[in-house]
Amino acid sequence: MPVAFRLRPATQADGAFLADMVVEAANWRPEGARPRHEVLSYPEHSRYVAGWMRPGDAGFVAVDAQDAPIGAAWYRMLPRTDPGFGYVGTGVPELIIGVRPIWRAHGVGRALLQRLCEHARAEGFGRLSLSVERGNFARTLYRSEGFAVTAAGVGRDTMVKRLR
Ligand SMILES: CC(C)(COP(=O)(O)OP(=O)(O)OC[C@H]1O[C@@H](n2cnc3c(N)ncnc32)[C@H](O)[C@@H]1OP(=O)(O)O)[C@@H](O)C(=O)NCCC(=O)NCCS
Repeated sequence: MPVAFRLRPATQADGAFLADMVVEAANWRPEGARPRHEVLSYPEHSRYVAGWMRPGDAGFVAVDAQDAPIGAAWYRMLPRTDPGFGYVGTGVPELIIGVRPIWRAHGVGRALLQRLCEHARAEGFGRLSLSVERGNFARTLYRSEGFAVTAAGVGRDTMVKRLR
């Protein structure tokens, strides 16, 4: 059965939903999901949405047939002094993605990823980075969309896609 969703650009009003997606990304393991307030109390997670939307932030939200948000992918430039897990250098934005559990495995994540990469390329960025924990199948999705591992951390890898 075809599933109906569409993508729209993220706006300032999407901050709370993007925070939900940060929580989904942090809780990717089915077991031991941490509550929203706990995940977002850690700067290592909240830095991806704090003060959304800042100049340079960009993203897309997937919405269902009733226009309810079901997933999002966005990028943000974090400073060298307060980097994200996937920081690779000045001028390389870091990507974050999450899809609501009941909507997973319907093509939403791949559609978001492709749209965001196209946008970053159109904005003139040469690379996008991300960080993924080992064991997360999302890594296979990233690889199939042209991301390659550039650095290994403790339990997680940094992946980078060249956009030109
Ligand atoms: C990772 C995530 C964003 C992918 O979004 P999605 O909408 O589920 O992904 P898609 O339906 O577009 O599937 C992309 C590919 O992943 C594969 N995939 C989807 N669900 C899978 C699963 N449970 N196990 C293994 N592979 C899976 C599919 O085979 C698909 O490849 P295909 O197009 O060749 O079939 C989403 O599952 C999610 O939010 N997961 C939890 C949060 C998370 O891990 N975020 C990333 C942190 S780095």
